Amino acid sequence: MNQTPTAVRRSVIAGCGSALPQRVMTNADMSKVVDTTDEWIVERTGIHARHIANDSETTRTLGVEAARRALDHAGLTPDAVDLIILATSTPDQTFPATATLVQADLGITRGAAFDVQAVCSGFVYAMSVADAMIKSGQAECVLVIGSETFSRILDWTDRGTCVLFGDGAGAMVLKAETLPDSQESPGILVTRIRSDGRYHDKLYVDGGPSTTRTVGHLRMEGREVFKHAVVNIATIMDEAMKAANVAPKDVDWFVPHQANRRILEGTARKLGIREDRIVMTLDRHGNTSAASIPLAFDVAVRDGRIKRGDLVLFEAMGGGFTWGAILARF
Ligand code: COA
Repeated sequence: MNQTPTAVRRSVIAGCGSALPQRVMTNADMSKVVDTTDEWIVERTGIHARHIANDSETTRTLGVEAARRALDHAGLTPDAVDLIILATSTPDQTFPATATLVQADLGITRGAAFDVQAVCSGFVYAMSVADAMIKSGQAECVLVIGSETFSRILDWTDRGTCVLFGDGAGAMVLKAETLPDSQESPGILVTRIRSDGRYHDKLYVDGGPSTTRTVGHLRMEGREVFKHAVVNIATIMDEAMKAANVAPKDVDWFVPHQANRRILEGTARKLGIREDRIVMTLDRHGNTSAASIPLAFDVAVRDGRIKRGDLVLFEAMGGGFTWGAILARF
């Protein structure tokens, strides 16, 4: 006997958008700033270039631009939005939350707006919170944004870190829809977030309002981060897929946080993921922290790779350590 699936409330990705600063900084440009070479950067990371914000481009302005494009893509106007969650580690000001600045620029005066801080895992955390707010009936239409200006917190004399990062923003619009409870229905299927604060000194910023009263600079033990990244990412992706009862071969696209080509290839090998199923934009964008996932997703949607109905797995790992994964049908 055929049973009709029950209806569930799902968070559907209604649209996406992104924004990049105008200025492109290539590895050749980088070699004029620190003692490095294009060969070294490409071989160790896969990065060829990154965008760097000028003084008038900030986390707020990039976030607003990405948000407007995501709303356009969804065919919605700002008045549809009742929640903004913005993931960033490089806010315009210590407070108020950059999300409220974006809210004001979009002319939205209802609902709520707040920032989420989970460094490079920020977008996955923000999506998990947005999904929970939608599923619990507290929001109908959420603008989830990842926006960063990491160039402002880099130590431009440290060649081990400044070559890795770039600036940018990405956004998605999540809309509540009541749909048949089936994996074939669009929307977020699984969210998983984790953190382990014992590793805070492997990747951190050496300043803050309550300690040094300064913003500080990014510090990292690259090898340690690398080692943990492959294991943590592979484990959480596996957990997310098992929770939805899907295998790597069922996933149409992997949209990872864009940290390092070798981390992505190592993870893919561990899980048996085909490399041509991975969306990689780090060659052009570098590591844009919380912005990298929505930025990569937007690129692949607009160039026609990711289509409606595709099963997409997002994953990230960042300072904290924090990490997480999200499985969604577009
Ligand atoms: N150009 C040239 N040489 C560089 C360099 C650069 N930009 N940065 C570091 N080096 C040198 C080091 O000084 C060192 O030289 P030495 O052997 O003479 O001391 C040598 O390269 C090796 O340094 P090491 O840090 O051990 O290199 P690595 O192979 O671990 O690669 C990373 C460095 C950062 C690329 C790598 O560790 C990495 O990708 N880690 C993960 C970082 C990451 O993704 N972080 C974000 C997570 S969200």
